[in-house]
Amino acid sequence: MRILSGIQPTGRPHLGNYFGMMQPAIGLQHEGEAFYFIADYHALTTIHDPVVLRDHCRELALDFLACGLDPARATFFRQSHVPEVTELAWLLSCVTPVPMLENAHSFKDKTARGFVPSTGLFTYPVLMAADILIYDSDVVPVGQDQKQHLEMTRDIAAKFNARYGQDLLKLPKPMIREASAAVPGLDGQKMSKSYNNTVPLFEEEKPLRKKIMGLKTDSVGVDEPKDPDASSIVQFYKLVASETEVAAMEASFRAGGYGYGHYKQQLFDALWEHFRPARERRTALAADPAYLDSILAEGAAKARPLAQSVMQRVRAACGL
Ligand code: TYM
Repeated sequence: MRILSGIQPTGRPHLGNYFGMMQPAIGLQHEGEAFYFIADYHALTTIHDPVVLRDHCRELALDFLACGLDPARATFFRQSHVPEVTELAWLLSCVTPVPMLENAHSFKDKTARGFVPSTGLFTYPVLMAADILIYDSDVVPVGQDQKQHLEMTRDIAAKFNARYGQDLLKLPKPMIREASAAVPGLDGQKMSKSYNNTVPLFEEEKPLRKKIMGLKTDSVGVDEPKDPDASSIVQFYKLVASETEVAAMEASFRAGGYGYGHYKQQLFDALWEHFRPARERRTALAADPAYLDSILAEGAAKARPLAQSVMQRVRAACGL
């Protein structure tokens, strides 16, 4: 089984990125041949400063490694270190109908918020399809917001195969973990950098506490019973606490007697502890920039020949 996923270096990764993709991807590295990359070509649709882009790429690589990505198991690289992917994106764009791209949620969402779209933003899903198809990927661990992109990838691959030969490109499957498919943000909408409602993974202690303490709650009094199913505190707690701990918090909600501040403190402690080992690994990794460069270079050296062999097959089939 070949597993592949990517993440954009558009700023500090948040709890949604972690529980929706990074944690499942790290778990899957033990179950097959894993390829994980930093989607720096995609980030050019929003990040326009080269210094910032390079910096985000390094920081994100550190984050992913600190969280447990094991370079001995997973091939870890920068998307742009395998430039063949842009060639495949062009070939795929020639079978992709414009209305399919016009229908993309993320495109509609960005334009609705007043973003003037570049051609790159419009064809973003085609490059994403190329990312996946160029490695003959079987499964792609992602959050719910990428589901439509995966459907488009399958459609594009099917159209390409219909034109140039059955089984030329492998149709991948999304792998979406139900429990963390769409982690909510501080305001209850989906957690997203573009909504300014995130909790970064490696947030400092003080701002993290402030964010958790600021979670929106209803006005039910201290002594009254509270509904755990309607609470974002419980929703977040489920991501980091054991089943027993969650059951205890839910029972305490129903019983009443504590204010929301009490549960927010519990949530903060659980989050802080959950990421403690990763925080420590991150500090150690950050002290050795040469190690980081060597991991990404080795990853690209493993990924690129694979992409090149798929491209050879594809170019021949197209008559190039
Ligand atoms: P990106 O960088 O926006 O997000 C990385 C991953 O995090 C997931 N995610 C979430 N999951 C649960 N709850 C949330 N609130 C939440 N927010 C983000 C995303 O679903 C994603 O899995 N287009 C991709 C990057 C990409 C890619 C690819 C992914 C480029 N090429 C090929 C897979 C395969 C993106 O922008 O993800």
